[in-house]
Amino acid sequence: MKMQKLLLGCLLAGVGLLAVACSNVNDAGGSDNSGVTEAVSPSASPTPTTETTSTPTPTPDDMPPIYDVPEAESVIGTRLCERYQGYFTVGTCVNSTTLNHPRIEKLILEQFNTVTCENETKPDALLNQSACVAKNDVVVMFPQRTIAILDWAQEHNLKVRGHVLVWHSQTPDWFFKDGFKNDGTLVSREVMLQRMESYIRQVLEYCNTNYPGLFTAWDVVNEAFEDGSGEYRNSYWYQIVGEDFIRYAFEYARKYAAEDTKLFYNDFNCYIDSKNNAIRKVVEELIELDLIDGVGMQSHLDVDFPSVGDYIRTVERFSEMGIEVQITELDVTTTGSDEASFEKQGDYYDRLFQFLIAYEKMGSSNVTGLTIWGVADNYSWRSSQYPLLFDAMLQPKPAYYGVLQQAQ
Ligand code: XIL
Repeated sequence: MKMQKLLLGCLLAGVGLLAVACSNVNDAGGSDNSGVTEAVSPSASPTPTTETTSTPTPTPDDMPPIYDVPEAESVIGTRLCERYQGYFTVGTCVNSTTLNHPRIEKLILEQFNTVTCENETKPDALLNQSACVAKNDVVVMFPQRTIAILDWAQEHNLKVRGHVLVWHSQTPDWFFKDGFKNDGTLVSREVMLQRMESYIRQVLEYCNTNYPGLFTAWDVVNEAFEDGSGEYRNSYWYQIVGEDFIRYAFEYARKYAAEDTKLFYNDFNCYIDSKNNAIRKVVEELIELDLIDGVGMQSHLDVDFPSVGDYIRTVERFSEMGIEVQITELDVTTTGSDEASFEKQGDYYDRLFQFLIAYEKMGSSNVTGLTIWGVADNYSWRSSQYPLLFDAMLQPKPAYYGVLQQAQ
């Protein structure tokens, strides 16, 4: 262990310098992850979650140039998930469109061993308004498009990350309102907690009954905190229930989840200090109550923010709490689709994975799963910034080789 730390000395020192230099960028905080407050179509271009300021940000290019695309290497015969076996699972998100594309489907099966439904297991996909109104109670109905993905995952021996039970976004407003009506008034705390428990129970019982062993994890609560202030996000959940909506969500999830399903708190921009502190405070409380198994770092990154150093230190800080860390929605935006932009992006991916593996080897991190938020750039929710490993022609980009290289 000592030896490994020595060998990594140079790199870690480089990271340290970057961290100090970048701390002012992080402290600048940021606005809402506005791209996700409303559902957008996969082809739309949501606002990136990254913050750019006029402060010159030292880029990962300050690090030793180690990235190099292996010549004429073909993806065929290489499996990212196999290369990272022993470290963490490697997954992607899927949706009905990508699954109906035979070449993308093939690529998914070739490269990944876990999947997350991009939108199909979110509350707005599973809650049925007319059924709720008719029954005047919570009614969960798994639609055919969700069932098709889960059946497919089961058939191909892929594990599934459940995403997401309690979130302010992609949860219909009427769920919080009297009679489940669009124009109803907000219900009481007591009613909302009943609805929360009923929703979580129905979703998890359905999964336990129909797909035993398929779901390895669930994101129980997503994005409860603001970036800049680290305050609770002023969501309907927070307004109606109060701060303890998070604890209740985890209590109910623990009560109904299968024993081998791990429960996660999931968020973006976790490397912003105020937000990181807020998340860790709540997670510590949940650990005390044995209600949580890990933190999910969404990881919607950009080649210029955050620094790889700040990112990896966040992984370390969460790991120090003694729980699992999963990278749940990794993508790295870049400015263009020209060669230079793709190489810079490849370099970022390369160094990110280099540090992930180095920290795993040192025992400084506890990453158990990593999910890339999509397969090909043109199907990404941030498609205008080309954030993924494969281009629109499904050809591997430098980003792919950057990831692959570290596994060797
Ligand atoms: C995104 C999906 O990729 C889009 O297709 C959808 O329109 C909006 O949501 N954080 C999350 C994910 O937790 O659920 C979001 O996914 C991306 C940000």
